[in-house]
Amino acid sequence: MATHVIVLAAGEGKRMRSDLPKVAHPLAGVSLLGWVLGAAGSLGADSTVVVVGQDEDQVRPLLPEGARVTRQEEQLGTAHATGIGVEALERIDPDDVVVVLYGDVPLLTPETLRSLASLGPEDTARLVTADLEDPTGYGRVIRDGNGRIAEVVEDRDCTPEQRELTEVNAGIYAIRAGPLLESLGKVDAENSQGEYYLTDVVGILASKGDRLEAVKASAEEVSGINSQDQLAGAGRELRRRINYSLMESGVWMLDPERTYIDETVTVEPGARIYPGVHLEGSTTVAAGATVGPEVFAVDSTIGAGSTVWYSVLRGAQVGEDCEVGPYASLRPGTVLERGSKIGTFVEAKNTVMGEGAKANHLTYLGDADVGARSNIGAGVVTVNYDGVEKSRTEIGEDAFIGSDTMLVAPVRIGDRASTGAGSVITNDVPDDALAIERSEQKEIPGYSQRREARKAAKRAED
Ligand code: UD1
Ligand code: CA
Repeated sequence: MATHVIVLAAGEGKRMRSDLPKVAHPLAGVSLLGWVLGAAGSLGADSTVVVVGQDEDQVRPLLPEGARVTRQEEQLGTAHATGIGVEALERIDPDDVVVVLYGDVPLLTPETLRSLASLGPEDTARLVTADLEDPTGYGRVIRDGNGRIAEVVEDRDCTPEQRELTEVNAGIYAIRAGPLLESLGKVDAENSQGEYYLTDVVGILASKGDRLEAVKASAEEVSGINSQDQLAGAGRELRRRINYSLMESGVWMLDPERTYIDETVTVEPGARIYPGVHLEGSTTVAAGATVGPEVFAVDSTIGAGSTVWYSVLRGAQVGEDCEVGPYASLRPGTVLERGSKIGTFVEAKNTVMGEGAKANHLTYLGDADVGARSNIGAGVVTVNYDGVEKSRTEIGEDAFIGSDTMLVAPVRIGDRASTGAGSVITNDVPDDALAIERSEQKEIPGYSQRREARKAAKRAED
């Protein structure tokens, strides 16, 4: 007996009021649909098919490679979409279990899904239900006098008494293929929306006397995302899950409520995270690193023993035992080797800082290679752009770049070479040399007396 999964993701999601297809909206770094597929993955199904709609081009990139996709041209309802999904499944046997999931229910856990899919030999179907304080908008589960599931009625089709019921349909079902196909053929569109409702299958099976069981889930687990505020609410819950599992593994977090870590990020046990930290994309944080307060890092790595605070990192690699910030901006292609430092109000782009190199204050390093142990003084700028081309600055090892030096690229500063503060360096500087480019200082002795005398003369005139 095989298990198949059909994920319905063809709806337009009008209530989101967004250009993005509903199931493409991201939550903690993964699309709504990605979360659903992730949970579905835990079933180890024999085949999985995603039913997409008009926005196939935007939805397809969210799917794992090789995922099977089928298209529902017109959104005629969830039963219609399920029928299209079934057609796309290969080799199905009437006894097989078909799990139908809605692409907008991202908080579903693998545990609930597994107990849903483990149908006993007597069972025709199981559906996930939950008791909600506010069931508005959900289909209600109607039970007969013996407490058996009789049907599901959509919110807008409920009688006033039915609307009072608090047990709702989560939109997650496991149904045997034979009875599913048979009952899909009987669903009509006679309801307030004129749609083919998958929920009608429940009533059709129950009226035949088939065995239907409910798998109860928590209110939060079944929340369907139809609007931006529900999206934000689900995001909060997913972040809470991510943070608690990281803390369980040994990550220290001062305040998990104010820590924003995407599902796609790796944080090793023993890392320390302060509030206001946003970690996104392929970012990794090694054990013994301290991040925050207030760091935004996307697609970046932070090595063991490093400290990064009040800073923005985009596509940057921070090695071991480095210091970054406060108020640093590391742009793509920045590589900090072991023990190097990027300090306050320093911006780096496409720049390699060798081991132990330091740029402590107010500096722009663009397209530069800074050798090991070199020191970059305050206010240094690599002048990498002449309005047409970008050029590189190369600085050797143990060099000393005086404060306020302009390094006009392309230029090379040799090993152990120095530049005088305030110099505009346009020519290469050989190893061990000092380059100074500035006019010599002049002193005018007694200047203040001369100035006072001039002021006194002016007063006498007036
Ligand atoms: C649905 C259920 C409702 C349940 C709720 C749980 C039906 C009729 N109602 O209502 O009982 O309480 O989910 O969240 O099933 N879709 C398609 N093609 C279509 C229509 C929908 O693929 O033609 C997809 C949507 O993309 C979505 C899912 O099916 O992922 C559910 O559709 P939606 O319109 O959100 O149904 P609800 O009104 O939320
Ligand atoms: Ca929905």
